[in-house]
Amino acid sequence: MKKIVYTLLLCLFTWQIFPQTNSETKVDSKEHMEWWTQSRFGMFIHWGLYALPARHEWVMSNEKMSKKTYEKYAQYFDPDLYNPTEWAKLAKKAGMKYVVFTAKHHDGFCLYDSKFTDYKVTNTPYGKDVMKELIDAFRAEGIRIGLYYSLIDWHHPDFIVKDPIHPERNNERELAKDKERNLKRFQKYLKNQLTEILTNYGQIDILFADFSYPQRENGKGKAYWNSEDLYNQIRKLQPQIIVNDRLDLREEGGWDFMTPEQFMPKEWVTYNGKKVPWETCQTFSGYSWGYHRDDRLWKSTEQTIVMLIETVSKGGNLLLNVGPTARGIIQKEAVERLEATHEWMKYHSRSIYGCTAAPEQFEKPDNCLLTYNPKTNRLYVHVLEWPFKTIYLPGLAGKVAYAQILNDGSELKLKSKKGAWLDNVEDDDNGLKITIPVTKPDVEIPVIELFLK
Ligand code: GLC
Repeated sequence: MKKIVYTLLLCLFTWQIFPQTNSETKVDSKEHMEWWTQSRFGMFIHWGLYALPARHEWVMSNEKMSKKTYEKYAQYFDPDLYNPTEWAKLAKKAGMKYVVFTAKHHDGFCLYDSKFTDYKVTNTPYGKDVMKELIDAFRAEGIRIGLYYSLIDWHHPDFIVKDPIHPERNNERELAKDKERNLKRFQKYLKNQLTEILTNYGQIDILFADFSYPQRENGKGKAYWNSEDLYNQIRKLQPQIIVNDRLDLREEGGWDFMTPEQFMPKEWVTYNGKKVPWETCQTFSGYSWGYHRDDRLWKSTEQTIVMLIETVSKGGNLLLNVGPTARGIIQKEAVERLEATHEWMKYHSRSIYGCTAAPEQFEKPDNCLLTYNPKTNRLYVHVLEWPFKTIYLPGLAGKVAYAQILNDGSELKLKSKKGAWLDNVEDDDNGLKITIPVTKPDVEIPVIELFLK
C-alpha cells in the first residue's frame, strides 16, 4: 500500500514539473516547420469591428470605451464589398504563401460563428461567417491558413478588469464586480473557442495567440490563460500546427517561433543564446493593424521589399499586415505595394523562398544584403545601392563558379585581380571583384546570383 501511495505521489510530482507537453502529440519540430521556413512570406489580416471607428484596433482601450459603447459597431458591420477571393489572389500574386486571420481580437468580437458567444459576425447585418469564407477562398488559391486568436478579451464578463490595458480599468463599478468574476469559466471559454476554431475549419497550419503580459502590474500570463492546458489541446487537435510564442510558455517549450513586431531585429533572433525560428510582423502603414483612416505613414514600395529581403537575410519570415476597411476593401496603397512586390518577386523569388542567412564566412558587401539557399548552394547579393562598375565581395575569391544578374540571367564576369593602374597593389584579402554594368538593372532591388563551388 505504502508503495502505491509513494508511486502515485511521484507521478503527481513529475506531472507538476513537466506538465507542458503531451509527448504523444508532439511532432518533430524541424519537420513540421519545414514548409513555413521555406515560405518566408505571409499575409496578416486584422479585420474586426474596429474597422468601423477606423482609429486603431485598440480604440476600445485607447478611448476607455465601455462594452456598451463599443458593442454598437456590431449593429453596423456590413462589409458589402467583401470579396475574399480578391484578397487571396492579391496575396498569392505578391508571393505570400500563408495567411493569418484574426478570428477574435482583444475586443472579444468573433469573426466566425462561435457557439460560445452571441458577440459574433453572424449576428451582424452581414450575417455570414467571414472567417469561413476567407479560409475557403485562400485555400482555393493554395495558401496555407493561420488563425490569430486573442487571449485577451475585453468583452467577456469573467475577464478581470483590474488590468493595465483593459478599456474599463478606471470604471469603479466594473472594478467592483471583479470579485464575482469566475476565472475558471473564462479559461473554459478560451479552451472552447480554440477547440472550435481548430475543429470546424479543417487543417489550420498556424496559431497566432495574442498576448501575455505577466511582467506588468496586474498583467496576465500563463497562469491566467491556463496556457499549458491550451497548448496541449492545440497540439492534440492539430498535431502539425505551428504555434507562436505569446502563450507565455517560452521556458516550457510551448512555442515554435518568436514574434518580434514593428521593428527590424539586428540579427537572427535567439533564445537562451540559440538561434530560433522567428517571424516578424509589420504594418504597411503606421502603428495600427486594423484599418486606420487618418494614418498616412505608408512605407515605400522599396522599404517593403527591403524589409522582406532583410528579414530573410537574418533567417526569419515576414508577415505583412493589411487592415481592410469596414466595407471589405484592402486599401489601394497596400494593393499598390503588393503589386510592386509581385513585380519584384516574379524575377527574384529564388532569393527568398527556401533561403536563409548566408554562412558566417561570407561577409556582407557594402550596401548589400545576403541570402543563401543551402539546397542549391547559391548565394544572393541584394544590391541596395547600385555601385559604379565593380562590386567587391569579401571572402569569395575562388569560391564562385558562375555569376549572373538574377532578373535577366545575364552573365557577370568574375575578376579576382586588381583594377587598371593598381597592378602593383596587392589584394589584401581573398575578396572577389565582379564587374557590373554601369546602368542599374531596371528592377526595384537588383540581385546577383552566385553559383558557389
Ligand atoms: C499586439 C497588439 C495587437 C496586434 C498584434 C500583432 O499584440 O496588441 O493589436 O494584433 O500585436 O502582432
